[in-house]
Amino acid sequence: GPGLSPGALEDTLGETAGVAEPAAVTVVIPTFDEAANIPELLRRLTDAVPKRLPCEVVFVDDSLDDTPAVIAESAKDCPFPVTVIHRDTPDGGLGGAVVEGMKAAGSGWIVVMDADLQHPPSLIPELVATGEEESADLVVASRYLPGGSRAGLAGGYRVAVSRGATWLAKGLFPRTLRGISDPMSGFFAIRRSAVAAEALEPLGYKILLELAVRCRPEEAAEVPFVFQDRFAGESKSTAREGLRFLQHLVALRTASPFARMAAFGLIGLTGFVPNLLALHALVTAGLHYLPAEIIANQAGVLWNFVLIELLLFRDRRHHRHWADRVGRFALLANADLGLRIPLIALLVGHFQLAVLPATTLALLTTFVLRFAGTEAL
Ligand code: GDD
Ligand code: MN
Repeated sequence: GPGLSPGALEDTLGETAGVAEPAAVTVVIPTFDEAANIPELLRRLTDAVPKRLPCEVVFVDDSLDDTPAVIAESAKDCPFPVTVIHRDTPDGGLGGAVVEGMKAAGSGWIVVMDADLQHPPSLIPELVATGEEESADLVVASRYLPGGSRAGLAGGYRVAVSRGATWLAKGLFPRTLRGISDPMSGFFAIRRSAVAAEALEPLGYKILLELAVRCRPEEAAEVPFVFQDRFAGESKSTAREGLRFLQHLVALRTASPFARMAAFGLIGLTGFVPNLLALHALVTAGLHYLPAEIIANQAGVLWNFVLIELLLFRDRRHHRHWADRVGRFALLANADLGLRIPLIALLVGHFQLAVLPATTLALLTTFVLRFAGTEAL
């Protein structure tokens, strides 16, 4: 548990002095323009790793600055081997880089950490020792355990986003993430034997979530840690990374065809909102409700198209020109207007329903019919 000394780790791992020993720990560090952090990082890593703990460090670099050269220079003072894998195509972003490093790892334990010293290297021995002691495949450094904190998460906005992301992930994967208080952590140790690299499809920052969901490591343990301030530079996360996180969540949750269909339906349901809003606006503006229905439907169609393209058919996006895809999608999505328009006319004209409730009822009817139709296929 917490508080294990490096000495305890050496006991578990045995007396393994000497250069010929295979490394017991591979520290994988993704870097994107972190030159200013590298010398201090390697200094603290050198201090942190006990002399007899065989260790290697693998940087996976997508930098545009001189990070690789700085690593090579600073590594000269390190007592352990340091390698740099520089990627020319940064596939998968941070997560893709980490998987690349895991494939190159030569030890039983892999520790993943950031290069900006927000993750204290001094915790590495404890992460591995905890895994050995508790026979866990995964040990997460958590900000949410007593003794941990997210001091380095600058601003209430980032704290709120981080909270929301954790809540969302835990809600979507309640069983897998049971026992992991901080699935968004970028600092953890995992046994190499628990990593099925070929099953991974990393997408952006949340590599721990990817590993937990797709590799299902047996037994997870946690160790508290204080998320420090960045040593130098700024976070590389952008608004695009937020969208990527949502795409990642959907990809993880819709691995089966059934789940994809359910997601398709859910997105379809959300399309009711823009549809009804547009209808309300058009009717209020004085348009007759039947042409308004047809125009308003396009708001829902567009909404659904964008969400489905961004979240569900991400990988198919490049197959056809987008105008062609919108056309096909719109054709299919307007097909049920042929049933809905007469139904709405009947509900409004004969049953004296107001336009909005009538449209809602008709939308639900065609939705259920379409679902039943797909089920019967
Ligand atoms: N190779 C590579 N490619 N490395 C990257 C990339 C990339 O596209 N993007 C970021 N990195 C590296 C950075 O250079 C840094 O070493 C590490 O990944 C973390 O990047 P930051 O930009 O500093 O992340 P952060 O501080 O905003 O987020 C960290 O904390 C979050 C929890 O609040 C990360 O650890 C997240 O994974 C974590 O969820
Ligand atoms: Mn950081």
